[in-house]
Amino acid sequence: MKALIALMAGDGIGPEVTAEAVRCLNVVARQHGHDFAFEAAPVGAIAIETTGSPLPEPTLALAKRCDAILFGAIGTPKYADPTLKVRPEQGLLKLRQELGLYANLRPVTCFPSVYDVSPLKPELLAGVDIMVIRELTGGIYFGEKTRTETSATDICTYTVAEVERIVRLGATLARARRGKLCSVDKANVLETSRLWRSVVQPIMKDEFPDVALEHMYIDAAAMHLLRRPSDFDVVITENMFGDILTDEASMLPGSLGLCPSASLGTGTRGLYEPIHGSAPDIAGRGIANPYATILSAAMLLRHSLGLESEARQIEAAVASALADGVRTADLKPTGQPANTREAGDAVVARL
Ligand code: IPM
Ligand code: MN
Repeated sequence: MKALIALMAGDGIGPEVTAEAVRCLNVVARQHGHDFAFEAAPVGAIAIETTGSPLPEPTLALAKRCDAILFGAIGTPKYADPTLKVRPEQGLLKLRQELGLYANLRPVTCFPSVYDVSPLKPELLAGVDIMVIRELTGGIYFGEKTRTETSATDICTYTVAEVERIVRLGATLARARRGKLCSVDKANVLETSRLWRSVVQPIMKDEFPDVALEHMYIDAAAMHLLRRPSDFDVVITENMFGDILTDEASMLPGSLGLCPSASLGTGTRGLYEPIHGSAPDIAGRGIANPYATILSAAMLLRHSLGLESEARQIEAAVASALADGVRTADLKPTGQPANTREAGDAVVARL
C-alpha cells in the first residue's frame, strides 16, 4: 500500500517521540511491502516563530492532501500565557476544524506489566479496556466567545447532526467490542446535554437494540471511572467533558505517555497524536516516553490505512517491550530508565 503521511512533530518533545514512531512505521512498511512517504511541516510554536502562524498555509495544504497526519505535540513556555493573541493550540484546533475531524478516539488500555505505575490498585485495573470517543469540533470549544471589562461568555452549541454521527460511531465500535455504550452528559443542567440525550435514545433503540446503553452525568462518570473502570466499554461525550475525562483516564494506565489518540472525520484521513503535551521541562533531553506516539502510529495504520494486522503488530511490540521492563522515566523504572531512543529500539526489535 502507498501512503503519504504528514509529519507534524511540533514543539517540545514532539520531534523526539514522533521520530521513534516513524522508525516503527518504516520497519512495518519494509516488512509488508508498503510504500510510506513522509512529508514534514511546521505547526505550533515553531511555526509561529518561523511564519507568524501556528498553522501556516502550506501545512494546512499538506494536511488536506495527505492520507494521514502523525502529530507530536505543541506549546513552549514562551507561548504559555493563555492571554496571548496567537497561540500554538490554535494550530491544532484549526486543523481539527478544517479537516472536519469530529471524532476523537482515545483508547484506555492498562498494560498488566506496568500496573504498578498507576495510582489505582491493581485489582481495579484488571480488565480495563475503554474507548472514549470525544466529540472534537463542536461545543464550547468552537462557540462564540465574548469579553467585556467585567464579563465573558463561551457559547456551547450542538446540532442534532453533530451528535448523531458520534452516537453511530460509538455504537458501531461498541458492537465490535463488549456491546456497551455509556453516554456522558450533564442533562440535569445543560440544554446541549438534553439535546444530546434526546438524540442518543432513539438511535440506540431503533438501530442498535443489541448494544446496552447507559446515560451517566459527567460528575458521576468522573467518579465511576476511578471506582469501577473495568465496567466501561465505549464512552461517548462532548468536547470539553471528553478532554477532561481522558486526562483523568490516563491515570488508569498510569502515564499520559501510554495514551494514544486518533481524530477522525468522514473519510479515512485522520490525525494521530499522543494525548500528552510538549513537556517543555524534559524537551531536548531524549528521555520522553515514545510509546503513546508509537501506539498512535498503530492507530494510523488501523483507521486511515486499513492495516489492522500491522497495527496489532505494533501494539503487541509495545506491550512486549513493557513486559520486558523497558521503561522510560515516567514509568517508575527500578533501575536506569530507558531513554526515548532505547524505548524505540525495543519496539523496533520486537517488530
Ligand atoms: C487535547 C489538548 C487540546 C484540547 C488543547 C491543546 C487545545 O488538551 O488534545 O486534549 O483541549 O483539545
Ligand atoms: Mn486535553
